[in-house]
Amino acid sequence: MKNKGQWMIASLLATALLCSAWAVQYFVPKKRPFKIPAGWPQPVYDFQKNPLTEEGIALGRTLFYDEILSKDSSLSCGSCHQQFGAFNTFDHPLSHGVEGQVSFRNAPALYNLAWMPSFMWDGGINHLDLQFLAPVTSHQEMGADLNEVLEKLRKNESYRKAFKAAFGDPTINTQRLGKALSQFMLTLVSDNSRYDKVKRGEAQFSLPEQLGEAIFLQKCAVCHQPPLFTDFSFRNTGMTKDLFLQDSGRMRITGLSADSLSFKVPSLRNVTVSYPYGHDGRFFSLMNVFEHYRKNLRSVPQTDPLLKQPLALSNYEIGQLRAFLNTLTDTSFLTNPAFAPPGQAFRHTAPADNHQ
Ligand code: HEC
Ligand code: HEC
Repeated sequence: MKNKGQWMIASLLATALLCSAWAVQYFVPKKRPFKIPAGWPQPVYDFQKNPLTEEGIALGRTLFYDEILSKDSSLSCGSCHQQFGAFNTFDHPLSHGVEGQVSFRNAPALYNLAWMPSFMWDGGINHLDLQFLAPVTSHQEMGADLNEVLEKLRKNESYRKAFKAAFGDPTINTQRLGKALSQFMLTLVSDNSRYDKVKRGEAQFSLPEQLGEAIFLQKCAVCHQPPLFTDFSFRNTGMTKDLFLQDSGRMRITGLSADSLSFKVPSLRNVTVSYPYGHDGRFFSLMNVFEHYRKNLRSVPQTDPLLKQPLALSNYEIGQLRAFLNTLTDTSFLTNPAFAPPGQAFRHTAPADNHQ
């Protein structure tokens, strides 16, 4: 009798253990540590408030590539942020939005966002989790009503499951949408260019690359500060105002005339593939950018002190700078299958209520 009782307790315990192991395996999101590349600063994103998990990242990736987030289901985040262009709009100065609209600015490349203290060319948004609200609701971009988007997602069985897997229960709300998109975007780390390999001692610069780096450190690096290739400040680089777009940059946010035509310093990682350049995409090639810095700067009181005078750059030096900038292309980032649109399997598990 005593033996039987012990046996029953033991088997109950074993079942409980098995069940909890099963629950851990299936219901607890699997943590993904965020790796800080050697020698890089601490990220500014607060991962404690939104810890990366495999399920959260997978959900964010599906959302990033799903047209369900736009008014007429014609556009996804990935339509304007294309991987082969380092997640900018490849080859377009301004991006196309819903119903033939055109966005106000050039879509920036997306990578290393965990280090970015503010978003948009004018820094108008200060948290990555909130950033998606701008494109989803902007008439010039996805033109959607947020409540309608949430309703569409809630009706979708596979999204309910995916939100449950990522957050523990199937509630779908604005906050979770932002967190999931952030989780995917935070994984877009570009740290494996030839430049990085040289810095890690795995490769060596050629002579032109080395000379280019020296010029870069002297003339560009204050603003385009390695290793992120931006200091995240807002600067007026002596560009004229586009008369049609009438974009005054940072001044739109602060209201200060001192910020007129100041824009966030873009990173130059992957710059060879992220053309066109500048906040309105006015420069089609790197040569246009160099011509701006050495000939076309317009000095106004707000122009950055470093750019009051055109930069002295000979054709020879430009060749070397180009060689250096080429080393910032991170092919493993641009072709990483983990960043590409997810396979069709997830999206079509419930085709009936998707994209209505
Ligand atoms: C119609 C094209 C378009 C779509 C669709 C789009 N974006 Fe963008 N994105 C842009 C443009 C243009 C900017 C720059 C806006 C500005 O500076 O005012 C931008 C800026 C950003 C930024 C800030 C990057 C930085 O360096 O400051 C992030 C992050 C971003 N988008 C993520 C997303 C996400 C997530 C989605 C989907 C919910 C999305 N975008 C949909 C065009 C688009
Ligand atoms: C005073 C700060 C400053 C200095 C110095 C500077 N830049 Fe810039 N750079 C910026 C800002 C700000 C922008 C964005 C300008 C805009 O669109 O309004 C920019 C844009 C660029 C772009 C376009 C990138 C893109 O994705 O749109 C390139 C390329 C570039 N700079 C290269 C250089 C090089 C090379 C040097 C040195 C010869 C240099 N910059 C010096 C601040 C600076």
